[in-house]
Amino acid sequence: MTQSTTIRWEQDRTGVVTLVLDDPDQSANTMNQTFRESLAVITDRLEAEKDTIRGVIITSAKKTFFAGGDLRELIRVTPETAEELFDGGMAMKRNLRRIETLGKPVVAAINGAALGGGYEIALACHHRIALDAPGSKIGCPEVTLGLLPGGGGVVRTVRLLGIADALLKVLLQGTQYSPRRALENGLVHDVAATQDELLAKARAFIEANPESQQPWDKPGYRIPGGTPAHPKFAANLPAFPATLRKQTNGAPYPAPRDILAAAVEGSQVDFETAQVIEARYFVELAAGQTSKNMIQAFFFDLQAVNSGANRPKGIAPRPVRKVAVLGAGMMGAGIAYSCARAGIDVVLKDVSPEAAVKGKGYSEKLCAKAVSRGRTTQEKADTLLARITPTADPQDLAGCDAVIEAVFEDTSLKHKVFQEIQHIVEPDALLCSNTSTLPITALAEGVERQADFIGLHFFSPVDKMPLVEIIKGERTGEEALARAFDLVRQIRKTPIVVNDSRGFFTSRVIGHFINEGVAMVGEGIEPASIEQAAAQAGYPAKVLSLMDELTLTLPRKIRTETRRAVEEAGGTWTAHPADAVIDRMVDEFGRTGRSGGAGFYEYGEDGKRAGLWPGLREHFTREGAEIPFRDLQERMLFSEALDTVKLLEEGVLTSVADANIGSIFGIGFPGWTGGVLQYINGYDGGTGGEAGLPGFVARARELAERYGERFTPPALLVEKAERGERFGDA
Ligand code: NAI
Repeated sequence: MTQSTTIRWEQDRTGVVTLVLDDPDQSANTMNQTFRESLAVITDRLEAEKDTIRGVIITSAKKTFFAGGDLRELIRVTPETAEELFDGGMAMKRNLRRIETLGKPVVAAINGAALGGGYEIALACHHRIALDAPGSKIGCPEVTLGLLPGGGGVVRTVRLLGIADALLKVLLQGTQYSPRRALENGLVHDVAATQDELLAKARAFIEANPESQQPWDKPGYRIPGGTPAHPKFAANLPAFPATLRKQTNGAPYPAPRDILAAAVEGSQVDFETAQVIEARYFVELAAGQTSKNMIQAFFFDLQAVNSGANRPKGIAPRPVRKVAVLGAGMMGAGIAYSCARAGIDVVLKDVSPEAAVKGKGYSEKLCAKAVSRGRTTQEKADTLLARITPTADPQDLAGCDAVIEAVFEDTSLKHKVFQEIQHIVEPDALLCSNTSTLPITALAEGVERQADFIGLHFFSPVDKMPLVEIIKGERTGEEALARAFDLVRQIRKTPIVVNDSRGFFTSRVIGHFINEGVAMVGEGIEPASIEQAAAQAGYPAKVLSLMDELTLTLPRKIRTETRRAVEEAGGTWTAHPADAVIDRMVDEFGRTGRSGGAGFYEYGEDGKRAGLWPGLREHFTREGAEIPFRDLQERMLFSEALDTVKLLEEGVLTSVADANIGSIFGIGFPGWTGGVLQYINGYDGGTGGEAGLPGFVARARELAERYGERFTPPALLVEKAERGERFGDA
């Protein structure tokens, strides 16, 4: 007989069976093949021994209750193996259904995170109690990996909360709730403060409810809020597609659409049929490319990056205790807040005490907001603020073991501020610059200890943006790299590591995206179509509005400097078609972007965007055939992907995971692609072409022919395609 290897059966004298989820081969329980087999064995036993059982408690021996689907298994699903997945999933769902209709009370004692599959197991229980442990999360985040909850999660949340709440609170956003918020929103019935209380409450429920049933199995049950079959409900229905459009912006994310369909269709049929509908949609998503892209990026790549695949080995960690932040402007203020939030003391220095105090004011604002929203307590906010000391006096930097510089973007100023403080801070303090464009090697020349100097490129707004790009200068030491990596993790952000180069990875690649959008204006393409193409490709910011935010004089400044550097190194400078457009906008029309009150857009008195500037259609005109919409989108996506390959060729980027994660979290490359290199791996072949690298190469050549040599695929890409490899293959 098959054994249950991942679920332990413990029965006490009173007849209460505790099912302990405890996969011996993994640190967390997942819904893999072994689990499915164990569940089948356990279900048979529960039915066979039903008469001796008083009730069932499901809990886990791990730190997390249950981790969810086995992503290693899911990322390998193909259209050929999809049927197998469907059968396996249905068998598991039938077993959970058998347990919930056993006629005995079943309680989930959720002793840690229950996300996805974990919460779906809990949903099949009559009563859900969550241990109020820090970091414990509850919900169905499948949508964030391009999937839907395929273990009965759609069917049961709809029956528990009603279609609207199930979609908006649980399924469409994939919100992860703390136990308390899960209680407030009806995801669990109760919370417990301790493990003992958790189990005591579970037993008490069994005691008090000897004949439990799910609400949906009771006679006369109706889905809360009704279903589309009811005329009253039908009036609400049109709101869902609108919510969906708002969420995806028209970008190709299939999961939200399928979740909506599974919820609505499943609400109008019986439980068993709804389970089949859910399984069909689940399997379709799992076999598709988008879920693979998203699992690769948001799970595997993110894990590789955060776990330190890039951190030099064998260097003992030394947590930073006191950091000096030089420059209390927009970036310095945000960096100070992020450090203080992580428990690090901060000395925030600017040219005047007033400027420094103003920089600390930013933290005060964020803290006040967090307190008013109930996200922190006044006491915690006060402790955080007490860690930040504003000053204009360099002597106050004594004792700092790390420095993060964020003064104006000017090499000689940066040299000056480092000289001023290098003998005041600790003699081995880590020296970091938050420059967004200046080469680190040259900045390092301004300090005596060049090996300790490194780039730490934050993104704006610092408190929200999860990424930090670490830039190794030519003389940066391994120790400094390890310490910088640890500092980024200490402030709970995600570090990618690149070698020094003009614009590093992120600033250089996002420049291609913007250039491509601006070049299209020059070709006389309808500006609204360009913006729409960016949005529908899945970019969080439309390309021309982004250029306006950054100001049009910025690419000019970068162009001048880059050109000088290229020519000094004996190279040849090639102009981009966007250059001429920017020059005309600035010189001829005086439109420098939002801060100047006029750019590609017009702005109202309040600084708000008031529509695209009609002059664009007048001054940049086009004759001839229309450009296909797909070309508009792919010109932007390809320009970024192709330059990323060049950065790999040049050795600026050294890891595929860094490229994928950096592109999504730093510069808004669309998440459905799985990142800038995974986009190439998963390329759909365009209109009828081959998929993957060969198709991407063919399409790049086509774009090169139509729009310019900048789309010519680099040698590294062509060779990889010819060898049948993908990015990230070992
Ligand atoms: P900002 O203009 O808001 O702030 C610069 C601050 O430095 C001002 O408060 C100024 O008074 C102060 N400062 C000037 N001289 C100083 C000195 N001698 N000692 C101490 N403080 C001094 O500029 P922002 O936007 O915060 O940028 C700072 C740096 O961060 C720049 O290198 C920029 O390229 C980089 N960066 C900016 C990003 C952005 O989105 N704005 C993103 C990533 C990096």
